[in-house]
Amino acid sequence: MATGNQGKLREYRDLLEPAGFEVVPFEPGIEETGSTYLENAALKAEAAMAATGTPAVGDDSGVEVEALDGFPGLYSARLGKTQPERTAELLRRLEPYPRPWRARFTCTIALARPGETTRSVTGERRGEIVPEWRGGVGFGYDPVFYVAEAGKTFGEMDPEEKHRWSHRGAAVRALLASGWLS
Ligand code: IMP
Repeated sequence: MATGNQGKLREYRDLLEPAGFEVVPFEPGIEETGSTYLENAALKAEAAMAATGTPAVGDDSGVEVEALDGFPGLYSARLGKTQPERTAELLRRLEPYPRPWRARFTCTIALARPGETTRSVTGERRGEIVPEWRGGVGFGYDPVFYVAEAGKTFGEMDPEEKHRWSHRGAAVRALLASGWLS
């Protein structure tokens, strides 16, 4: 798993280990120079595959806010130095706009295997950004991403519940269903 993000790593372990996979982290140490989630996910997966010689998965994800024309999207990890700063910056930018602040999380997973073309799957989750931080579970923007159908933010969900609703859960289910891991 080409990531140094502990939150993502925990989720991939949760999602893939019950299906019989061992998830080993690898810090790809590359610049995310792609202009799409797919390009960045593939850059990470291919760097990890090249360095380790084993199949590798890369994840690129972000939150797109409707009022901000899809921002921060690809830049979700770069809105500030720490996650609390990033969340505060997102809320600051949204303040002038009327609520609801509709948003969508996207997760693209690229699978790189030696000698094969890199393949990908994508999962999405629609919801809204809320101004008050709710719940201490999870990572990233979880405490301010509210899923109306669940009546909770991602930050208020235990891991299993988040996986049922989340963009990453959907992407991993698509990857498992693809048969590409066999
Ligand atoms: P990247 O995919 O490493 O470029 O970073 C994506 C960024 O989007 C993360 O650092 C988080 O801030 C945010 N993000 C992605 N997925 C989630 C999630 O499931 N919950 C909360 N924030 C997320």
